[in-house]
Amino acid sequence: MSKLQLDAEDRLRHLLTLEGLPRALLESLLDRAEILRPRALSGSGERAALAGRTVVNLFFEASTRTRNAFQIAAMRLGADVVNFEVSQSSTRKGETLADTALTLQAMGVDIFVVRAAESGALAELAGVLDAGSAVVNAGDGRAAHPTQGLLDMLTLRMHKGRDFSGLKVLLVGDVAHSRVARSNLHALRTLGAGEIRIAAPTTLLPSAEVLDGSRVFDSLNEALAGVDMVMMLRLQRERMAEGLIDSIDAYARDWQLTPQRLQLAAPDAIVMHPGPMNRGVEIAAEVADGPQSVILEQVANGVAVRMAVMQMLVENRHVVRR
Ligand code: NCD
Repeated sequence: MSKLQLDAEDRLRHLLTLEGLPRALLESLLDRAEILRPRALSGSGERAALAGRTVVNLFFEASTRTRNAFQIAAMRLGADVVNFEVSQSSTRKGETLADTALTLQAMGVDIFVVRAAESGALAELAGVLDAGSAVVNAGDGRAAHPTQGLLDMLTLRMHKGRDFSGLKVLLVGDVAHSRVARSNLHALRTLGAGEIRIAAPTTLLPSAEVLDGSRVFDSLNEALAGVDMVMMLRLQRERMAEGLIDSIDAYARDWQLTPQRLQLAAPDAIVMHPGPMNRGVEIAAEVADGPQSVILEQVANGVAVRMAVMQMLVENRHVVRR
């Protein structure tokens, strides 16, 4: 995946994963998003950037934030946007993702924003489309969610500065099933985060490869000591075999970020969550809505980051008007 998304000059041609994305490229996407942010939020946008281009949102899993942020970002860039209705489409008749995408490409779609249930589907898609089309991963299985990783890095950077080397960051909960965690871990390593901590019940820990370079804790209270950022992850019951946790109540007792627990972190620590939240399970409502929460800023930054990605793909001339 990491090779397929770069051209011979190491410029972005698809965005499939943050794994292996060069630091300079990652930082230039964040810089670009930071510049676009005021125009993303005010709505004035950058309307000439994708004028005449067509973006399709092809989502095979549920989404609120990601899909709407991509739609708003594409509109702010002046693109025509199609929201593909999977439940009403011929995918229900057995048409494959590749055939669906080739059909849309024949109608003039330039950028394919895709959320897939299986890891690997995106790389396959990038392989079958014309050279003039680009694929952007909006989440595939548990593997990657690169624009989420970027928006989280932008949010962290805006609060803690560009130099992550002095930061202690903590990811908590269902890391095993989380593409958000995987993309965050790649980005945090690339950007040189000082200390990366992971806290989870052993049944929700990912493979050793994913954990590489992180300090693993089996107690949330211990893991929280002195951290500058804590990211709570949703308990992904839809991806979970039964029996990985004893009960929701027991999970909430041991792993919920409560106002009391948050006091163990640095006094100016920020609290993140990619959404959707299970209030009262992994995060207490008082924390989600409290002064240290930057959860809605993450959402706002998601529009700017997606604008930056699509603008860069077009500028790199990998999205070619036919
Ligand atoms: C996440 C996702 O779908 O990967 N949400 C998001 O895109 N912000 C996380 C989740 O579903 O828990």
